Amino acid sequence: MSAGRSAAGGGGNGSRPAVVVTRRLPAPVEDRLTRDFDARLNADDHPFSAAELQQALRAADALLPTVTDRLTPDVLSVEPLRAKILANYGVGFNHIDVTAAKARGLVVTNTPEVLTDDTADDAVMLMLMVARRAGEGERHVRAGAWTGWRPTHLLGTKVSGKTLGLIGMGRIGRAVARRAHHGFAMRVIFHDPYPPPADQVAELGAEPRGSVEAVLREADFVSLHSPATPETRHLINAQRLALMKRDAFLINTARGDVVDEAALVAALRQGTIAGAALDVYEREPQVTRDLLTMENVVLLPHLGSATQETRVAMGLRALENLKAFFAGTPPRDRVV
Ligand code: 8YV
Repeated sequence: MSAGRSAAGGGGNGSRPAVVVTRRLPAPVEDRLTRDFDARLNADDHPFSAAELQQALRAADALLPTVTDRLTPDVLSVEPLRAKILANYGVGFNHIDVTAAKARGLVVTNTPEVLTDDTADDAVMLMLMVARRAGEGERHVRAGAWTGWRPTHLLGTKVSGKTLGLIGMGRIGRAVARRAHHGFAMRVIFHDPYPPPADQVAELGAEPRGSVEAVLREADFVSLHSPATPETRHLINAQRLALMKRDAFLINTARGDVVDEAALVAALRQGTIAGAALDVYEREPQVTRDLLTMENVVLLPHLGSATQETRVAMGLRALENLKAFFAGTPPRDRVV
């Protein structure tokens, strides 16, 4: 579909295009959306059902969805389809079936770059938390169980100077590498089927490896930064977990689908790896029950981009994409 046709379609007769915003967004973003569009906000912030998503696609010129909206081929088969663009709030868009969207003539955009630093910070925070037993320590203090300092209390694993293995060396992987190498004097190794240019890799002090397996065998910490695609589903499975060092930790701030969660639970139970720190899960918001009781596991509720500054920036980026589209110019972050 051309942006020109969409501009004519959206908000015809000079009226402002109607945009359904599926979740509450920070106030400055909702204010701008309301100013620039006929914005239909989700006052009580409930997650949309498939039927509500279809109603939105029938009734509005655009949808501004989030990771909690499953835009499946079935949902996207709705008739009549009025919407022309899915302006996703977030860089990851595995909850949108882009093949089906494209087949329906829908443009899809995302919000890259603005959340890179926060997500990298989240990965580093998880690495430190799991290595230094921060969650355990906090639970200990809050439970009133702390009896005082002693040399052998809650000893963790040193992070500085260790080897960090990155699976995926895109924007977020590189931001993690920068923090680890320049901040923690870590040796950084990585695998990416589409590696960044050699000068960027050198600036990060990172060393490529020819396979995921090679990274897993060598790393003290493995951090995942691949997009969720059919190819990366369960990339970290039982066989690959078995290649990791027994004293190594797994960190996932990418997508739950990249890890076989049942295999991870088994590996943790059997001591195949030392621990895991997760921000994302296979069936969010459900978390495999066994993980909840494991002390060597850190669990966060998908907080990668969760700062006021970044959530506003993401919203403004989605707004920018919508404005470009309805002005008849190509949106900067078009993915299909
Ligand atoms: C978002 C994320 O909060 O951007 C992403 O891919 O995982 C998160 O930072 C979420 O996707 C919002 O839809």
